[in-house]
Amino acid sequence: MSIQLISQSSLVAGLILLISSSAFAADGAELYKAKGCTACHGEDAKTPIMPAYPKIAGQSLEYTTQQMNDIKSGARSNGQSIVMKGIMAGVSDEEIKAISTYLSGLGGEKKEAEKK
Ligand code: HEC
Repeated sequence: MSIQLISQSSLVAGLILLISSSAFAADGAELYKAKGCTACHGEDAKTPIMPAYPKIAGQSLEYTTQQMNDIKSGARSNGQSIVMKGIMAGVSDEEIKAISTYLSGLGGEKKEAEKK
């Protein structure tokens, strides 16, 4: 009886862990859509609407975080950065991190090439 109880509670704990970790992973994906990033970078983050807009899927967490912070602060102001700056005003540091985590987990072009 007690053994059954223990295995049941560990199953519940396992399920909670599974649900919370997948909820975190979904967070960045949700934000990517909710913040309107798809409009310019594409649903899959590698089909930008303009050739001059970057593909951002599969890029490292550190790099995208840095670039988003720089565009937000104005430290990065390329010819095209201004297009994105207004959007970044409404994206918090935590949201930048969540989106970057999501983007870094996506297959970028290089990763696909590596598979072959
Ligand atoms: C209105 C169009 C537009 C929207 C919306 C937009 N971006 Fe961008 N984004 C751009 C452009 C254009 C650049 C390139 C800026 C430059 O040339 O400096 C860029 C650059 C970036 C970069 C840097 C890429 C690199 O290789 O350096 C990242 C990361 C990024 N965007 C993520 C996002 C995220 C996340 C969102 C949603 C919160 C978003 N963008 C919304 C247009 C947009």
